[in-house]
Amino acid sequence: MAAYEWIDHTFDVVVVGAGGSGLRAALGAAQAGLKTACISKVFPTRSHTVAAQGGISASLGNMGEDDWRWHMFDTVKGSDWLGDQDSIEYLCRNAPAAVYELEHWGVPFSRTEEGKIYQRAFGGMTKNFGEGGPVQRTCAAADRTGHAILHTLYGQSLRHSTEFFIEYFALDLIMDEEGACRGVTAWKLDDGTLHRFRAQKVILATGGYGRAYFSATSAHTCTGDGNAMVLRAGLPLQDMEFVQFHPTGIYGAGCLITEGARGEGGYLTNSEGERFMERYAPSAKDLASRDVVSRSMTIEIREGRGVGANKDHIHLHLDHLDPAILHQRLPGISESARIFAGVDVTKEPIPVLPTVHYNMGGIPTNFHGEVLTKVGGDPDHVVPGLMAVGEAACVSVHGANRLGSNSLIDLVVFGRAAGLRCQETVEAGATQRELTAKDGELSTARLDQYRNANGSTPTAHMRLAMQRAMQENCAVFRTQDVMEEGVERIATVYGNISDVKVTDRSMIWNTDLMETLEFDNLISQAAVTVNGAVNRKESRGAHAREDFPDRDDAEWMKHTLAWFDLDTGKVNIDYRPVHEYTLSNDIEYIKPKARVY
Ligand code: FUM
Repeated sequence: MAAYEWIDHTFDVVVVGAGGSGLRAALGAAQAGLKTACISKVFPTRSHTVAAQGGISASLGNMGEDDWRWHMFDTVKGSDWLGDQDSIEYLCRNAPAAVYELEHWGVPFSRTEEGKIYQRAFGGMTKNFGEGGPVQRTCAAADRTGHAILHTLYGQSLRHSTEFFIEYFALDLIMDEEGACRGVTAWKLDDGTLHRFRAQKVILATGGYGRAYFSATSAHTCTGDGNAMVLRAGLPLQDMEFVQFHPTGIYGAGCLITEGARGEGGYLTNSEGERFMERYAPSAKDLASRDVVSRSMTIEIREGRGVGANKDHIHLHLDHLDPAILHQRLPGISESARIFAGVDVTKEPIPVLPTVHYNMGGIPTNFHGEVLTKVGGDPDHVVPGLMAVGEAACVSVHGANRLGSNSLIDLVVFGRAAGLRCQETVEAGATQRELTAKDGELSTARLDQYRNANGSTPTAHMRLAMQRAMQENCAVFRTQDVMEEGVERIATVYGNISDVKVTDRSMIWNTDLMETLEFDNLISQAAVTVNGAVNRKESRGAHAREDFPDRDDAEWMKHTLAWFDLDTGKVNIDYRPVHEYTLSNDIEYIKPKARVY
């Protein structure tokens, strides 16, 4: 193996990832007087949060009465009762303050006539514990809400002296013999140097792994690097079988058309011109939750009522809406539809198809952002030194299915919570254990192995084999046979990884090597996803099994924990109980019932 040298850094807190949750956490830690670094493989304002469109949920009540308890009910119901209700209470009751904080920091929200933050309807968001019809709860900056939030948070992070390490690709966690996290390693892409960041707390804010699938609304950078680092550290991921398909990805291109389009009055039709959602969700119709709408669209296509020459997609209509409203509230998707589907939304419907959009599963945490694992009989054992936030984390507020616009609020509420936890638990400048020669060996061994990989299969071919398997064998509808085949296909790809071919041997801007490391990150997550899915013998939220069509609370109201064995590629599964309690007496535990919209 070539000799590699480390450049060492010491911080109180190191955040990996500069999307909404990472920036909010870094900002909080820096505000608390802690020496804080933020490492990102892309320039911060290119993080995937920039692509979030429709908005951020909070019961501000600007467009009619609202209550955080109603938001909590909707989120619990949306999660199909797999969400932890203590965390969901924390999310919903802190949401309004988090949105006002963003407003005061400068997020340019759209406005009502009275100058209040504009809020639109989104799927599954209702009044009066589901009894009062749709509520306008999703705060929006036109259809570029994530863009507005990300740019504001980056500015605020700089103001509070977060130190940025930009275009550094995080490689691995530095774990000690006691199982505590002591730091993280990274590769600086533009000059090829290697870095060890020692920290009292490492916060993973590395986003989801949508790119394990062939068609996703996620950026190509969404490779779940933090999740994979956790698996390599011998820790589990939680509820990875729950993968959200957004109903309206542009057919072919996969780009997102915001749910806000239906929130503003858009609707779906089949080849007969029928507004079919009226049959599947008589009350909420096109604003049912995403899992329900995606399944309904898939059934329409399967039963021969898809549109287009191949009858393989669905139409989304905005052509009945006032062009002035489209221009004001949905300018971004009007442009996307023109560029990627050749459609003028004021005149024609947009061709759409359910597309992978979000991972409900991730790194198990409590609502402070502390990473959890199961040790002996303790299912909530805190891993010292390690935290996670955002889509990388599974708090779990989204359970088996996330409601639209609950992601942006998750980023800022739990990013803030993580900053507060650092304030409570980290002493600025406290002495840290010295790094040893051993710290970072895992990273250099892995880097060197792939840098010199001389097999016969290019990374792109392996990645495509994985993406096709996930798309075909772990999709909207699932059965035992199809998923068992998926387990085999993914195991075969993992088994062939020693045959990978990397052509560029340099350390500087080696995108070939970086994509191979990202693929290596994705394949372990693909394995825990499909193994978790075949293991869960019920239907719940986004996990819809045709052979087990009902939710089974007696047997399956529990979180899956999945460990990945790097040597064999085998996935080991255990469980954590769902938290069936709230945080305060201000709301009672919301008991499971049938989930209809
Ligand atoms: O449809 C959208 O605008 C996406 C929002 C979300 O995933 O929360």
